[in-house]
Amino acid sequence: MPQLEVSDFAQAVIDRMADCPDARFKEVMAALVKHAHAFVREVDLTPDEWMAGIQFLTATGQKCDEKRQEFILLSDTLGISMLVVALEQARGAKALADQPGERPTEATVQGPFFWPGAPRRDLGDDIGEGYGEPTLYHGRVTDTSGQPIAGCELDVWSGDEGGLYDMQKGDSMSLRAQFRTDQDGNYRFWSIKPTFYPVPGDGPVGAMLDRMGRHLNRPGHMHMMLQAPGHERLVTHIFVKDSPYLDSDAVFGVRNSLIVDFPKHQPGKAPDGRTMNRPYYTAKYDFRLVPSSR
Ligand code: BEZ
Ligand code: FE
Repeated sequence: MPQLEVSDFAQAVIDRMADCPDARFKEVMAALVKHAHAFVREVDLTPDEWMAGIQFLTATGQKCDEKRQEFILLSDTLGISMLVVALEQARGAKALADQPGERPTEATVQGPFFWPGAPRRDLGDDIGEGYGEPTLYHGRVTDTSGQPIAGCELDVWSGDEGGLYDMQKGDSMSLRAQFRTDQDGNYRFWSIKPTFYPVPGDGPVGAMLDRMGRHLNRPGHMHMMLQAPGHERLVTHIFVKDSPYLDSDAVFGVRNSLIVDFPKHQPGKAPDGRTMNRPYYTAKYDFRLVPSSR
């Protein structure tokens, strides 16, 4: 009976999948085994280190409940969530390569604070009153050929001026809503200028980041999710241009094309006609959606 040597184990595991009927699953699992074994050999992992890794993954699972997803946080902070988003976007761009038109809006991570079923609000409504510095968000949603998309659903969510989301405070929904674009694809709503904030650091992922010598912060951003029939769903953010941590986002989500100026205005008439009796900001951003491939 030939004995397996250090360099043989990975192939032996892969060979056992000879009867696997699902070609894609087999491909993914074979690559996982190959790279995991290569990692163990590369760092010459000791039994104590492997046990520490298993305990870390166990603690990560145990930290999860309906409101807390520590595994997604692990994926986010290791850059894997954003890598998957970027690969999906590159796939879409390749499919569009021979078609005329503009590049679609870049996507970024969804994060753990999306809460389905946010209240439907009218264009121009203020969802941020009392939560921070007032900001008018406005722009247009089109397809990549510049055609306006009417009735596009726009879900928006952010933390408060201290960087905390309603879910983290145990509150009912706040600073989140769903809007629909008008006939010309325009949207507008008032919320706050978002501030930078730390990702949850009180679990195993926080301990890992601390041990890595990394900070927990994300630059200020407004989350947006856009959905319209006949178009691919877009999950993205608008990042605040003067925010700290744009160059060291804890989850690697920043795309240059999503960084937006938030000019400050003195009290007076805002571009949507609202009279403001205190200083306010504006953030203008146009979104371009990709036609659906399914
Ligand atoms: C967020 O932006 O809400 C977020 C994204 C990834 C991890 C934690 C928070
Ligand atoms: Fe966020």
